Amino acid sequence: MKKRVLVAVSGGIAAYKACDVVRRLQDAGCDVRVAMTEDACRFVGPITFEALSHHPVLTDLFDYPESPNPHIMLAGWADICIIVPATADIMAKVSAGIADDCVSTTVLALQCPCVIAPAMNVHMWQDEATQDNVAHLRERGYGFIMPTSGLLACGDVGEGKLASVEQIVDDVVARLELRRDLAGFKLLVNAGSTHEAIDSVRYIANASSGKMGFAIAEAAADRGAQVVLVAGPCALPTPEGVHRIDVVSAQDMFEACTAAFGDVDAAICSAAVADYTPKAVADHKLKKSVEHIEAIELIETKDILAELCRTKGDRVVVGFAAETNDLIAYAQAKLSRKGADMIVANDVSNPASTFGSDTNLVSLVTADGVEELPLMSKAEVADALLDRVSSLVAGRG
Ligand code: CTP
Repeated sequence: MKKRVLVAVSGGIAAYKACDVVRRLQDAGCDVRVAMTEDACRFVGPITFEALSHHPVLTDLFDYPESPNPHIMLAGWADICIIVPATADIMAKVSAGIADDCVSTTVLALQCPCVIAPAMNVHMWQDEATQDNVAHLRERGYGFIMPTSGLLACGDVGEGKLASVEQIVDDVVARLELRRDLAGFKLLVNAGSTHEAIDSVRYIANASSGKMGFAIAEAAADRGAQVVLVAGPCALPTPEGVHRIDVVSAQDMFEACTAAFGDVDAAICSAAVADYTPKAVADHKLKKSVEHIEAIELIETKDILAELCRTKGDRVVVGFAAETNDLIAYAQAKLSRKGADMIVANDVSNPASTFGSDTNLVSLVTADGVEELPLMSKAEVADALLDRVSSLVAGRG
C-alpha cells in the first residue's frame, strides 16, 4: 500500500513550493493529502492542491466532503505529516497545543510522526520565542528540516529560507523508509480467474478473487516497477501506475501474456487459469437439458506459464500452485514440469490463505529449496515475493 503523507500548508510566501513537494512525494510513490490554513489559501488556491493531490483539500473543519470530523480522519489516515512551509505562528500553536484552525487542530490529533519545514523572515526566525518553540517541539519528537540562509522574499538576507524541495522530500522519504528499489524493472503479472463460455450467457470459472495478483502489481508499481497486469474478469480497482489489460478467457489471457512478455524482466503467473474450456460455444442460450450438459466437450487450454517458461531465456518466470493437500510435493513437481524459476505454493484449504482472503500463507519453492513465509497480508506476501524475484533477476544480470 502507498505511504500516506499529509502536507499541512501554513501562510507564507513559500507556500507555492509546497505544490512541488506534493508532486515529488507522489513521484516517490506516496498518496498525498493537503490541509491549508486560511492564510495559506491567500498565497496558493486550494484548487491547485486539489488538482495535484486528487483529493479534497482541508481548509475548513466544518466543510469537508469526506468526513464530518476531517481532523480526526486525516490525522488517523496519515503515515507522516509535513508542515511546509511552517510559519512562526503555526509552530507557536503546535508547541502550545492550540487548536483553533483546521491545520493546528489536525496536527494536535496526529498519531504519526510530524516534520516541520519552517520558512519566515530572519528576525522572526531568530526571535527567542520562535527558537524556544523549535527547541520545545524538538524535545517532543517533532522532526525539523531547518531553513537555510539566503536572500529572503522580504528582501532581508539571513536564515529563514525554506529548505529545498529535494531536501524536504528526501527527508520525508527517508523517514517513511520508502522503497523505489524496482525502478527500471519491467514486470508482467496475470491475475484472477478466466471465464470459459459454454453458451451466450453461461461460463465455467473458479473462485479466484485476483487479490494476490493485484497486490503484486500494486506493490511492484509502488516500488517503481513498470507493470503490465493481465486481469481476468474481476471488479478490483486498477492499482495506480499499473497498465491493466482486461481479458475474459484462457485463450485471451494466453494471447495478452505472450504479447506482453516481450521485454519484461520477470513474469508472475498468479492467475487461476481454467485448465479446460468447452470445445464449442453455443451462440444462443442453451435450454436446460441433460443432453446439452452431457454433450459439452472440454478441451485443454494452452498453458500460459509453461509457454512463458519455454521461451523465457534470461527472464524470471514464477508460477502459483493452489493446493489442498501435499502442497510442497505438488509445487516441486509443478516447478520442474513447467520449467519455472519459482512456484508460490499456497494451501487453499486453510481459511487464512484461501481464495478471496486478505491474508496468505505461502511457501516459495525453487530448485534451491523451500522457504516457508509466515502468515502475512497479501500486500506483505507481494513485497516478500518481489524481493526474491528481483534477486533472481539481479543474479542473471
Ligand atoms: N497456468 C497457466 N495456464 C493454464 C493453467 C495454469 O498459466 N492454462 C498457471 C497458473 O497461472 C499457475 C499455475 O499454472 O501459475 C498453476 O498450475 P496448474 O497446472 O494449473 O495447477 P492446477 O491445475 O491447479 O493443478 P494440477 O495440475 O496439479 O491439478
